[in-house]
Formats: sequence, structure tokens, C-alpha cells
Amino acid sequence: MENGALSPDRIARIRAGLRQWFAENARDLPWRRTRDPYAILVSEVMLQQTQVDRVLPYYERFLQCFPTVAALAAAPTAEVIRLWSGLGYNRRAVNLQRAAKAVVDEHGGEFPADPAILRTLPGIGAYTAGAVAAFAFERDVAFLDTNMRRVVNRVVFGADPAPEAKVLEAAQALVPPGEGWAWNQALIEFGALQCTARRPACVVCPLQSECAAFPVVQTVLAANAKAIRPSSSAPFEQTSRYFRGRIVEALRGLPAHDESGIDLSQLGPQVREGFSAADLPWLRGLVDGLQRDGLAVIAEESPPYEAGEDATLSRTRVRLP
Ligand code: ADE
Repeated sequence: MENGALSPDRIARIRAGLRQWFAENARDLPWRRTRDPYAILVSEVMLQQTQVDRVLPYYERFLQCFPTVAALAAAPTAEVIRLWSGLGYNRRAVNLQRAAKAVVDEHGGEFPADPAILRTLPGIGAYTAGAVAAFAFERDVAFLDTNMRRVVNRVVFGADPAPEAKVLEAAQALVPPGEGWAWNQALIEFGALQCTARRPACVVCPLQSECAAFPVVQTVLAANAKAIRPSSSAPFEQTSRYFRGRIVEALRGLPAHDESGIDLSQLGPQVREGFSAADLPWLRGLVDGLQRDGLAVIAEESPPYEAGEDATLSRTRVRLP
């Protein structure tokens, strides 16, 4: 198949193939049964960097606690973070609430349908704006996350990465008029289940004869499978992201309506095994970062201190916002 050539016939064949595949393979997911833009936004933010199976219980619980955009906007941020904690990337929770507040304060509580206006909401990028426009308002828009980009890139341009603008243009040309909702759900599903990054099911792919990457993708994957790829990165349990998560977990365990927080020297041992006073600056650095991201509040305790006490780091108290 010629790279990048999208004749009307080819577009029609790709559409037909993916439509049929989606009709046979679509999962029944709760955010596919609603057109509530708020619920869709919650799902899309949760689904960034997180697998569907892990998101499902959090999605249900979150909407039970905060059923409307107004409820989320009005909630104490600490409560939002508590509910999110365990899902990871807690910054997403803070940004989601900021977006909810902007919808309430600047749009009278009604979500805009235009992706260009959705993008002006805090923390909402091109992908999320497109997803809300397509999945809540059934707009015929194109937008790409990693999986969707991979699918369009492979089918239209081949196995090598094409320029982002070209891929987006092709994605837009492929959206069947009036089917923006189903088409984009289908692309997502196809990227998740069929045209996966490491093990695409090319042998049983309905787009095989249309795909510019076939059979190159298969050849590359066979080579990858043989190569032993040493992992160069540190174990997750040694990363800042891991310890940030541990800190938020510990703060979440504090009494809900007690604003006094916890002392860094008490927090440390809950976060890291073998924590000692020498680790206080490290911990303080992480907590500063969490405060910058709106995930923690630092309250310096003022003197007077007891005689002989180290009047520096150990008197720093921290809590959820
Ligand atoms: N990941 C991102 N958006 C999704 C959706 N609507 N359905 C399934 N997985 C997704």
C-alpha cells in the first residue's frame, strides 16, 4: 500500500474495515454509555497513562462522590486527592478540579462543545479537548493519543514515524461525517486491542490489505522479540514519582478534618525504609514539589522552640490541600 496516499476509495475501505471490527470487538465501558461531558472528562483524565481495568472502580467511585461538575468544583481539594490516590499521577486530580472550577466560574457550569474553547480549560490539551468534543458532543473531530497516533501512522504512512501534522491531517480525513463518536472510540479500541505497540495482531487484522506498515511491522517485531533489551532505568521503587505517591498516601491517612498536618520527621519513616534525619532535605524537596503541583500544603511552625532543638526542617508540617 502506497504510503500516505488517501484516495476516497482507500478512505472508504479503511472506514469499512474499522467500523466492522469495532462492531464485533467493542468493550462495553461505562463512559461509552453516557454523553455527559463531565463524566467523559473524568474518564479521559483517568485513562491518561492508566489501564481501563484499573480506572473502572475509580471512575464509578469518583462519580458517586462528585456526580456533577459543580460538586467537584465545590469539593475540598484534599477530598479529591484522597479519592484519586492509588490511581497514580495525582496531579491529574488537582488539574481536573481546576478545570471543573473553570467550567463553573467561566462557563456558567456548562461545558463548551468547541474543542478550541475546551482547550482553554486548565490542564486540558488537544487530546482531551478532542475527546470531550467527540464523546460528549459527538463532534466529527480528530485527536490523537499515543495509541491512536500509532494506528493512523501505521495504516496510512507505514512503520516509521510520520510528522505529527501529517498524521493528524490523515486522522481528520478518515473521520466519517456524522460518526465522530464511534470512529474515535473505534480507533482507541483498535490501538488497545488489535494494533498494539509491541504485538499487533497483523495476521488477523481486517486492515491488513490497507496497511502501509504491513508486513514491515511484523518483521520489526520479530526482530524485537529476539533482541534482549536490557532495562536502563532505575526500578520504580527508587523514583521520585514512587516516593511522591507514598507521601500523598501518608497524607491521605491523616484525619480528614484535622488541618494540623504531619511533621516531616514523622512523615519520613512512613515514606522510606531506614529514613533518618539526613534524609530530611530530600524529603523537603519532594514535599516542595508536591506543594507546587497543588498536592500538598506546607506549614512552617513558628518558634519558640524548645532549648537545644534543631529549629529547622523537623518543624515543617505538611498536609493535603
Ligand atoms: N482510553 C482513552 N479514552 C478511552 C476510551 N474512551 N475508551 C477506552 N479507552 C480509552
